Amino acid sequence: MKKFIVLLCILSIGCKAQNTSVQPTGLIANKAMVVSAREEASKIGVEIMKNGGNAFDAMVATELALAVAYPYAGNLGGGGFMVYRKANGETGTLDYREKAPLAATKDMFLDKEGNVIAGKSTKTPLAIGIPGTIAGVFAVHKKLGSLPMKEILKPVIELAERGVIVTQKQEERLNSYREELIKINGSNSVLSKVYKENDIIKYPTLANTLRRISKNGRDEFYKGETAKTLVAYLKEKGAIITMEDLAKYEAKWRDPITFKYKDLNIISMAPPSSGGICLAQIFKMIEPYDLSNMGHNSAAAIQVIVEAERRAYADRSFFLGDPDFVKMPLKALMDETYLKQRMSSFNLDKATLSSDIKEGKVNYNESMETTHYSIIDQFGNAISATTTLNAGYGSKYYCDALGFFLNNEMDDFSAKAGVPNMFGLVGNEANSIAPEKRMLSSMTPTIVEKNGKLFMSVGSPGGSTIITSVLQTILNVAEYNFSMQQAVNAPRFHHQWLPDLITFEPNTFDTKTFETLKGKGYLINEKTTPVIGKVDAILVLPSGALEGGADFRGDDKAAGF
Ligand code: DON
Repeated sequence: MKKFIVLLCILSIGCKAQNTSVQPTGLIANKAMVVSAREEASKIGVEIMKNGGNAFDAMVATELALAVAYPYAGNLGGGGFMVYRKANGETGTLDYREKAPLAATKDMFLDKEGNVIAGKSTKTPLAIGIPGTIAGVFAVHKKLGSLPMKEILKPVIELAERGVIVTQKQEERLNSYREELIKINGSNSVLSKVYKENDIIKYPTLANTLRRISKNGRDEFYKGETAKTLVAYLKEKGAIITMEDLAKYEAKWRDPITFKYKDLNIISMAPPSSGGICLAQIFKMIEPYDLSNMGHNSAAAIQVIVEAERRAYADRSFFLGDPDFVKMPLKALMDETYLKQRMSSFNLDKATLSSDIKEGKVNYNESMETTHYSIIDQFGNAISATTTLNAGYGSKYYCDALGFFLNNEMDDFSAKAGVPNMFGLVGNEANSIAPEKRMLSSMTPTIVEKNGKLFMSVGSPGGSTIITSVLQTILNVAEYNFSMQQAVNAPRFHHQWLPDLITFEPNTFDTKTFETLKGKGYLINEKTTPVIGKVDAILVLPSGALEGGADFRGDDKAAGF
């Protein structure tokens, strides 16, 4: 009888916990998980961990498997950022962002009259920044990895040789880019050819490049045969990257941007990404408002978030750039009094106009197409990494001799103060071009702690919409009790100060919400727009199990054990 009562108690406690906690809707795994843009890459990362590797070994494998399976954004010819939290609570970040070549100049994308030449920073060989990805994965492996590099690269090389199945979305993407790819690379280049869903594309040249890197290490890419082949190719095309540029490239360990939002501790990327600072500013500006009572995606909640976004992106445009080149008032920008004061011009009756918002006044005395994946391992280590070629297939320049695309990241610089880049972002002196400088990014790989414990790993591609997509995903879980998968699926909106428009995911919001917002003076972008973010995330459930959130907007997939 006693036993029966105890059992009843346990059951009723269990039921209560079930009623109050959220039902997961994404893939559940007990120990370890990878969520990335392609199932092949997620599975390779998981295999590495099953074989005893940690999240950092899995990061190397996943990053390079994406270069094989997702050439749209995965890369050897681009760069990225990684945020980590070790099982012991230690945190850090790695910056493997591209750099401007030594021969780059401030006015390199301007004509004689000083006007920006359309397309020069996106569609010419001058758009290419010095790639950071190989330096990045080797830096991670050296500091935090546990398995031999050869063992990590083996399944990636095998994937390149075996080939990757074309998905329906990939077929559509290749169709829409084919003309451009043929124009630049000719019709014999591997991705210029016509592929249908379920065809298999093999990448033998990329497999050879990876095999040489596996044998000779990091310097193969920056000083060896691969470097020589790459520089010869770039020179022939008219790019300005030299052997010296490659030899001088270093990935950099940087302190993360860390801040609190209610009971969460959020760890994100520092400059040269604007992600962490903007995320911190927006979270701090919205913290005083009762978003959960206002309701998910209600007009009032949208207003509060949009007004905070407007102000944060105005600061981004003025203050942020590469910390090795510009002094930035980072502490002042994250100061609670400053941010409260910044929101004081907002009330719920009426939209603030972006033309009335400039960068804030802060004290200067202080020293001043992309893909994301999240990994948690069986030891409790977590990583969040976003990597990019910038546009889809980057500059579209594909080095056939090496088997990869080159980025067009130079467009992330501000070619001219106040003139928007391909994401409509405007910049200033802080983000002007200089030799060896890193261009400002919006990539926001982020890790969230709750009650001192690992809670979430999250991030997204999407250019300027990355920051607001990460923000909404965290809010969906923290304020609205969504499961990880629901939080990723939920419709999103975006505002970036200029242009002064709220962009909504098409056909997902209530027209009544639009009417309310319009009545208050908000301008709404009603045109069909590209997707807002494509979030891949992992949530640690109260039981300790992991729930994946893989974005249905792409072919993204969670895998785990
Ligand atoms: O670093 C940045 O902010 C951009 N180069 C990211 C580009 C991107 O997310 C494109 N993906 N949709």
